[in-house]
Amino acid sequence: MLEIPSYFTRLYTAAEIDKRVDEIAAQITEDFAGRKVHLVGVLRGANIFLSDLVRRIEVPLSYDFLAVSSYSGTSSTGVVRLIKDLDESIESEHVIVVEDIIDSGLTLNYILEQLQHRKPASVHVCAFLNRPHSRKVEMKIDYTGFEIPDKFVVGYGLDFEQKWRQLPDIWAIN
Ligand code: IMP
Ligand code: MG
Repeated sequence: MLEIPSYFTRLYTAAEIDKRVDEIAAQITEDFAGRKVHLVGVLRGANIFLSDLVRRIEVPLSYDFLAVSSYSGTSSTGVVRLIKDLDESIESEHVIVVEDIIDSGLTLNYILEQLQHRKPASVHVCAFLNRPHSRKVEMKIDYTGFEIPDKFVVGYGLDFEQKWRQLPDIWAIN
């Protein structure tokens, strides 16, 4: 059995997450009606969110993944590296970058810089979680699941030292 430590507190249940993912998918479907979208998932945290999202978006789509590294433990080093690039070109695509959480914004800022060079038709951002108080670089987030307080969170794809990604709820580590 997987035991949840007593210093974890639940922020969002799987049912609440499910409802919110439905709403975001409906919004994307409406905003991109008549077009095709290309989702870019940021590994590994966005994997579960992207998987739920794509099954509810009702416009044609494709998706691809990239991976960056910027974190060890719970605090940002501010150094972002591309460790896995996209497999496909994004030229002329309506790109939606799908992230697990935007914290300082440094990771997303770096990813957006990389993608802008590749002549996409448009680039939008969809983040499952947003922690606006930690922001170091300003950016527009087009779709947000939940705005969270200044606490480190795990579950629904988010990890602490590679653990707890499998939890269906979102938990804060106190
Ligand atoms: P940023 O560059 O500071 O915006 O950090 C974004 C990345 O840090 C996310 O893609 C996550 O992988 C990781 N991260 C930031 N906060 C948390 C958290 O509370 N739990 C798990 N991962 C986090
Ligand atoms: Mg991440």
